[in-house]
Amino acid sequence: MTTRAELRAARAEHGTLGLVPTMGFLHDGHLSLVRRAKEDCGSAIASIFVNPLQFGPKEDLATYPRDLDRDLSLLEATGCDLVWTPGDEDVYPPGFDTYVDVHGITDVLEGGRRPGHFRGVSTVLSVIFNVVQPTRAYFGQKDAQQVVVVRKLVRDLGMPLEVVAAATVREPDGLAMSSRNTYLDPTERERAVVLRRALDAVEKAWQDGEIHGAALRSAMSAVLAAEPLAEPDYVSIAHPDTLEELDHVDPSVGALASMAVRLGKPRLLDNVVLLPR
Ligand code: PAJ
Repeated sequence: MTTRAELRAARAEHGTLGLVPTMGFLHDGHLSLVRRAKEDCGSAIASIFVNPLQFGPKEDLATYPRDLDRDLSLLEATGCDLVWTPGDEDVYPPGFDTYVDVHGITDVLEGGRRPGHFRGVSTVLSVIFNVVQPTRAYFGQKDAQQVVVVRKLVRDLGMPLEVVAAATVREPDGLAMSSRNTYLDPTERERAVVLRRALDAVEKAWQDGEIHGAALRSAMSAVLAAEPLAEPDYVSIAHPDTLEELDHVDPSVGALASMAVRLGKPRLLDNVVLLPR
C-alpha cells in the first residue's frame, strides 16, 4: 500500500490497531515493537518511510540503507497485518505546507545538534498518525528524546492514541541494534561495545549512590576516553521528562543517561534510564 486512500480503506478492516513507524532496513529492535503491537492490540501496522524532512543537509539521506523486499518478508514472518510504504508524494502531497514543532525539549541533545530534526519527526508522525488512526503507537527507548517529544506532541495536540515505549534491543555483546550499525567496519563494530560499557559504568555509579551530574557524566566519559576510535559528541545526565541537564539527580525521580558518539562513519546513540531509588 502506498497511497493515503489505500491505507485508509485497509485500516477500516481493523479495530484496535498498534502502529510501528519506521524508516526501514529492519532489525530485531523494530520487530520487537511489531510483536508488542500485535500482542497488545490484536492487529499491527508498520510504516516504512525514509523521511527527508528529518535529515540535515549534511546527513545520510541519500545513503540511508534500504531493502524493501527484505523488510516486507521480515514483517510478514513477524505477523504484521498491514504495511504502509508511502512515496514522498503520499506523505507530502504537492503544496504541502504544514509543519509541527515541539518547542523547548527539542533544543537540547539530538535536537541541539540536529536543527530541524524533530520538526521533521513531529511533522511526519502527525501525518502518519492522522492517516493510520492507530489505537497505540510503539517507539523504542533507544531514541529516548524521540519518545519524550512524541509523548508531548500527542498530549499537546490531544491526538487520540496512546504512546508506548519499549526497551532497547541489543546485539549479544551489548551494542544497541540500529540500521546505521551497517556503516561500521569490522574493527569499529568490535570497538562499538564501548557505549554499552560506558552505560554500565554510569548505572553502577548510580547504584553505588552517586547523585552528582558531573560525576555521573565522568563515569561515562572515562570509559569512552579509553577507546581511541570513539569520539564523544555529548554525554548527558538529564531530567527524564524535561531533558534539562542536572547538577544533582533527585533519587526519587532518577535521570536519563545518554550519549552520542562518533565511531568511524556513524554517530551512535545509546542511553539508559537511571531509575528512581
Ligand atoms: P527508525 O530509526 O527506523 O526507528 C523506528 C523505531 O524503532 C523507533 O521507535 C526506534 O526507537 C525503534 N528502534 C530502533 N532501534 C531500536 C532498538 N535497538 N531497540 C528497540 N527499538 C529500536 O525512529 C525512526 O525510525 C524515525 O524517526 C520515525 C519515528 C520512523 C519517524 O520518521
